[in-house]
Amino acid sequence: MYSAAILTMSDACFNSLREDKATPAVRELLESRGFSVMETLLLPDDKDSITESLRSLAAKGYDLIVTTGGTGFSPRDVTPEATLALGGRLACGVCEAMRMNSMRYTPRAMLSRGVCVIVDKSVIINLPGSPKACAENLEFVIEPLKHGIDALNGAVTECARK
Ligand code: MTE
Repeated sequence: MYSAAILTMSDACFNSLREDKATPAVRELLESRGFSVMETLLLPDDKDSITESLRSLAAKGYDLIVTTGGTGFSPRDVTPEATLALGGRLACGVCEAMRMNSMRYTPRAMLSRGVCVIVDKSVIINLPGSPKACAENLEFVIEPLKHGIDALNGAVTECARK
C-alpha cells in the first residue's frame, strides 16, 4: 500500500458555492490502485496557503500528494507556482505525458499548466480541477508513478526490463 494526500484548490468549493466532486473522484481512483488516502484538504486559490499546506503534507512523508484545480490561465490559478515554490526536483515527464494523452479528449488539455515535483520523499502532482479531467489524467500516469515512488524509496534500483 502507498500513502497519499489530496489537496483541492477551488475558491467556489471553499466558499460553499459549489460541491467538491474532484476530491472523491481522485480518492476513488487512488484507492482502486493501491493507495491509502490519509488526508484531504480543501483550500482557496491562495498561493502562500497552498505552498504551506504542501510543505506540511510533504513533511509527513506521504508517497504521493495529488492537487486538483488552479492549473489554468485565470489570474487566480496559482497551483503550479505554489508547488514550484517548494523548490523540489522537477519531474516534467509526468505532466508532459498527462497533457499528451489528454489531447485525445480535448485540445484544451494544453491549457493545464500543472507540474510534478519531488519534495523529500513525496511526489507532488498537479491535476486540473474538473473530476473528469482528474480521472483522465491520473489514470494515465498512476502505474508508472508507482515505479517512480519505489525508486524514490530505494525499493527498486534496477529499471531495465529483463
Ligand atoms: N484534461 C483532461 N484530460 N480533460 C479535460 O477536460 N480540461 C482542460 C485542461 N485539462 C481538461 C484537461 C481545461 S478546459 C483547462 S482550463 C485546464 O485543464 C485547467 O483546468 P483547471 O484550471 O481546473 O486546473
